[in-house]
Amino acid sequence: MAPTTALSSFRNDFPMLTRTMHGKPLIYLDSAATAQKPQVVIDAIQTFYQKQYGTVHRAIYELAIFATQRYQEIRKEIAEFVNAKYPEEIIYTRGTTESINMIAYSFGKAFISPGDEILITEMEHHSNIVPWQIACEDRGAILKVVPMNGRGELETEELKKLLTKRTKIVALAHVANSLGTINPIKEIAALVHGNSDAKVLVDGAQGAPHLPLDMQDLDIDFYVFSGHKLYGPTGIGILYGKKELLEAMPPYQGGGDMIHTVTFEKTTYAALPMKFEAGTPMTAEVMGLGAAVEYVKKVGVANIARWEKELLLYATPKMEQIPGLKIIGTAKEKGGIISFVIDGIHSLDIGTMLDLKGIAVRTGHHCAQPTMHHFGVTATTRASFGLYTTKQEIDAFVEALHEIIKLFH
Ligand SMILES: Cc1ncc(COP(=O)(O)O)c(C=O)c1O
Repeated sequence: MAPTTALSSFRNDFPMLTRTMHGKPLIYLDSAATAQKPQVVIDAIQTFYQKQYGTVHRAIYELAIFATQRYQEIRKEIAEFVNAKYPEEIIYTRGTTESINMIAYSFGKAFISPGDEILITEMEHHSNIVPWQIACEDRGAILKVVPMNGRGELETEELKKLLTKRTKIVALAHVANSLGTINPIKEIAALVHGNSDAKVLVDGAQGAPHLPLDMQDLDIDFYVFSGHKLYGPTGIGILYGKKELLEAMPPYQGGGDMIHTVTFEKTTYAALPMKFEAGTPMTAEVMGLGAAVEYVKKVGVANIARWEKELLLYATPKMEQIPGLKIIGTAKEKGGIISFVIDGIHSLDIGTMLDLKGIAVRTGHHCAQPTMHHFGVTATTRASFGLYTTKQEIDAFVEALHEIIKLFH
């Protein structure tokens, strides 16, 4: 299948996309779960292990110096990528999940007292629900939920009403993974900061790979994302936090690298960012993430956003014409995610039948059971796009859905 996308020249950078599945060309429509990797990312990791491998922060031999320099340079590149004010506002973590857990624990310990309130929204991934429930249990705080409407858009007026003097943090998704809704985070941050002392955490797992980012312009307090959804490796993610906040928060884990001095009587902690990076870090994963960020910059995040929007506008009306198909999540502002149900056919059956045709989609509750509950379903099928997705792939996907429906009815 010859791709005709505006970004078609980049598609050839992804070796996985040349393989077949069940004898058919692979059509990968699960980039919201995890994105395929360009060769430069695979090469960066392989070269590091084959030719450059050494420890970071711990030795003065050449390999260790190189690894440490790259590890810190990549931090700067990521700071530039999201337009953070200082590189030390970028903390390496294992992913979005670990970043949110780290903030819930550490921000919670520093700033949340019994009776305080934490606001999340009805469209969150479990990663942005459960850590706050744990923090509420630990700190004696109260969890409140901002509702969404029938299109899957946040009720910002309700958010405003829910803000009180006791609200310590508002945690919300940039893009809802099960619906595709893009939340207006700049306006929401301004609303929260203008009406309360609460901080704003944005779960950027579905934002960073698809939308241009500017931490200083958005004026949010924390932004978190995962490397593997940004065309990088698994096991690496980012926690961006405003410097003064991170400085006021206690470490999440203790161990090597995060200390300044240690005696049996007392330990003092390292400055940012090391305070939050205990132990030998995921060095090879950082090298891979560095290559991924350089790659995404080369393609241009604005180009990616434009292309994925075009794909969304191309696919949506075609899918709406499929008999019995209902799209779940019809917000005005949406990313390249289409969740749907089909009358009388379980999403697992749809996913299995699509797989046999070489088409990979996600099925189930998408780690967003409260969202499913809101729409009165237990599961959906979700097609999600990446920079490499083509219109021909969407045509093949829509055609496959028509065939599946004929088989079932
Ligand atoms: C919106 C959102 N938040 C959080 C996560 C969790 O990301 P990870 O599993 O990479 O930690 C995901 C992953 O699907 C997501 O889509």
